[in-house]
Amino acid sequence: MNLAVIGAQWGDEGKGKIVDLLAPFVSIVARYQGGHNAGHTVSVGGAQFVLHLLPSGILHSSVHCVIGNGVVVDPEALFEEIRMLASKGIEVGDRLLISEKAHVILPYHRELEMHAEERRGSRRIGTTARGIGPCYEDKAGRRGIRIGDLRDTSDDGLLADAIRENVLLRNQVIRGAETDWRALHTELCASWVRLERWVGDASLFLTNAIRKGQCVLFEGAQGTLLDIDHGTYPFVSSSNGTVGGICAGLGVGPRSIGAVLGITKAYTTRVGEGPFPTEVRGELEEMLREKGREYGASTGRPRRCGWYDAVAARCAARVNGFDALAVTKLDVLDGLDEIPLCCAYRHEGRELTEFPSRTAALARCEPVYEVLPGWPRNPTAGIRRYEDLPAEAKTYLQRIGEVAGVPIALVSTGSDRADTILVAGGLIDQWQKKRAVTAS
Ligand code: IMP
Repeated sequence: MNLAVIGAQWGDEGKGKIVDLLAPFVSIVARYQGGHNAGHTVSVGGAQFVLHLLPSGILHSSVHCVIGNGVVVDPEALFEEIRMLASKGIEVGDRLLISEKAHVILPYHRELEMHAEERRGSRRIGTTARGIGPCYEDKAGRRGIRIGDLRDTSDDGLLADAIRENVLLRNQVIRGAETDWRALHTELCASWVRLERWVGDASLFLTNAIRKGQCVLFEGAQGTLLDIDHGTYPFVSSSNGTVGGICAGLGVGPRSIGAVLGITKAYTTRVGEGPFPTEVRGELEEMLREKGREYGASTGRPRRCGWYDAVAARCAARVNGFDALAVTKLDVLDGLDEIPLCCAYRHEGRELTEFPSRTAALARCEPVYEVLPGWPRNPTAGIRRYEDLPAEAKTYLQRIGEVAGVPIALVSTGSDRADTILVAGGLIDQWQKKRAVTAS
């Protein structure tokens, strides 16, 4: 059974660790959206890897990785990541396939993004400045350049024409420092020589692998609340990180998604602008940020921190059809006497238990908290069996599952692979057992 791993919040839920944990049980890990705006941090035996574009499965030598057509690829960022892995002893080799339909991020995308953010002033999105939005704009505007287009290296071919026209548009927006399209064309032709070995038909590769009984893990980037359609628009990224993005972003049928695992942190964080009802300020924010090491893996920006928002998680469970939840970073809440859990919002005098679909309404919502007892003297850090958790931590987890209407299958109690609780009889426990039987 193929598994989708999807963020239930505003990204940074710890998907990298969970994908890395599950990767030994699959043949392929596939990314279907986003680009190198993502930052998946994986700790293995004291060494830390931060992946932006490559699926986190790349750390396992038996796993093949796919970058689907729904992903936007900055060739230089990809080469840099492959170099970083090689320097730590991990060879990508022939374990990578990039869809030839994936769109290419070019230097002018980054410039256009910075220009747009500046113009927005106080209404800025707070993007990662990786060129993600403008690249998707070109895709939707049908003037984008796809990886497969780079094979046309002639001076007067379709690629040269497309670059010339796009650079002309860019030069009309950003006056003064003009981009030379010929230099860019030469650069892209050089990139193609290095990329060619990895480029192919990802839809065909995945469909054939699934038909042969190989298991695929679909790795979401960002999170449900950053989804271009279902997130807190316009303070979102430019792709569909929710489950719906999988079929469009990889070219696989809906029945290839066997089960959906939602990843949620035991509290909430957000990078960039936009409403965040459970945000806290002052000492508590500092505590969550420092203990949780809440700094952007891509940009180093301090993340905004707040309490767990069960209303948002319930919305994520609905939009994605979660079969189970993985709750990460439970140990960050160790030491607290009490833990507020937001189970409803107050909006214009009324109590809401469903996430408002209008971002303007969300911005006016006040959190309604249930205050649960903490576990100040019994730390959860490093606990690996559910039964060893303090009773208060079990109650907290149960309440998270109840409000979302989804059972909890995994709990993470530290950054290392081993600091993980597999809930007996839960989705992942059953899935791993079935995989082990199939493999033997
Ligand atoms: P963009 O994806 O760079 O266009 O940024 C749009 C919004 O999504 C900004 O608020 C970013 O901070 C946020 N964002 C993008 N990628 C991630 C991620 O991987 N984790 C958390 N926030 C992200």
